[in-house]
Amino acid sequence: MTDIPDRAAVLQALDRIADPKTGKGLAAAGLVQGLVVGPDRAGFMIEVAAADVALYAPVRDAAEAALRRLPGVLRAQVVLTADGKPGSAPAAGPPPGPHTVRVRRGARLSPEAQAQTAPPPARPIADGSQNPAHVRKVIAVSSAKGGVGKSTVAVSLACAFAHLGYATGLLDADIYGPSIPRMLGSDAEPTTNSDRKLVPIEAFGLKAMSIGFIVDEGAPMIWRGPMASSAVNQLINDVAWGSAEQPLDLLIIDMPPGTGDIQLTLAQRLALAGAVIVSTPQEIALIDVRRGAAMFEKTATPILGVIENMAYFPHPVTGEAIEIFGRGGARATAEAIGAPFLGEAPIDIALRQSCDDGAPLVAVDPAHPTSQRFIAMAARIADALEGGDPRPAPRLAVE
Ligand SMILES: Nc1ncnc2c1ncn2[C@@H]1O[C@H](COP(=O)(O)OP(=O)(O)OP(=O)(O)O)[C@@H](O)[C@H]1O
Ligand SMILES: [Mg+2]
Repeated sequence: MTDIPDRAAVLQALDRIADPKTGKGLAAAGLVQGLVVGPDRAGFMIEVAAADVALYAPVRDAAEAALRRLPGVLRAQVVLTADGKPGSAPAAGPPPGPHTVRVRRGARLSPEAQAQTAPPPARPIADGSQNPAHVRKVIAVSSAKGGVGKSTVAVSLACAFAHLGYATGLLDADIYGPSIPRMLGSDAEPTTNSDRKLVPIEAFGLKAMSIGFIVDEGAPMIWRGPMASSAVNQLINDVAWGSAEQPLDLLIIDMPPGTGDIQLTLAQRLALAGAVIVSTPQEIALIDVRRGAAMFEKTATPILGVIENMAYFPHPVTGEAIEIFGRGGARATAEAIGAPFLGEAPIDIALRQSCDDGAPLVAVDPAHPTSQRFIAMAARIADALEGGDPRPAPRLAVE
């Protein structure tokens, strides 16, 4: 049975832990941010200066333990976020723990301080510095425009790769609008393994992770940009995506819409095997394809191709293609940017319904014509990935 912990009791328990700097209780000291209390769980974020990370790591652990002792709390998560505040010294002591991400905000520093502490300019070429362990290839599914069906395509491709025999993971990098939990029909909560890494949720043969599995839907809306970026980094690096024995062949990232900080950071820090750009046939969407492609060019990320989603609506009786948004523009744009055209998916009620029902069409009905299209697109992507590292041998299911 699920139980909702009492919010006042949570705050009281946290107030019994002293802030090492002010001596006040954690809540009274204003250190309890973004508190989420839900069925069986509680969690919040502590944001401190970069220099104080080591000081607050035991506080985070004590807070997690205190939450777990409360009636109704089966799962507790406290995230420690370090913020490079003006004048803060470099963090002393050991490097931050697994739940700690350091965020720099050079813009807040005085010009003199910036001259001394500004990090070197971001390297334009992806450096792979944050590639997750035991993951062979990372693919981003992206679009500069919102609502074109990125998440639908990301889930469908991930299921298609799993169908083709690849060990596949799905990361929802859309912190402000996560859709993967709904599309996979799961509200499971990730557990933590002995290395303090989050264990991905398993659904439809995929390993999946989303901020939506961890905090309540509305919670991230109040997070500032750096907090959202740090959350994405944690979803990549603090998750046990694979192991030496069972590596992941492919990790598909459902990117947030646009070409903002999160997208650029991901493209810079991960050595992406490539990006798949999703578009509808409309001219306005195609302008965004060019914009999205430019972002990946900056980071020398190969564009694996363009997918035209909602390409047409098949007439329910005659099957004739009704071209609601025009047609064929994505193919032309793909040619114009020198990227392969991977294929098109029609407006399909079964596809939409399957997303809403949390039962991905490609997984539950791989023989469906729309599923077959996604499987063909996945096969084309897999072929394109064949260059460079040898393609991981697909694990064929013997039926
Ligand atoms: N080919 C399709 N046929 C029918 N419905 C679709 C199709 N593709 C997407 N949809 C529906 O359109 C809506 C938006 O899709 P989705 O959430 O995948 O877009 P998105 O690009 O990820 O959006 P956001 O930018 O908000 O992240 C959803 O309701 C989805 O079910
Ligand atoms: Mg989406």
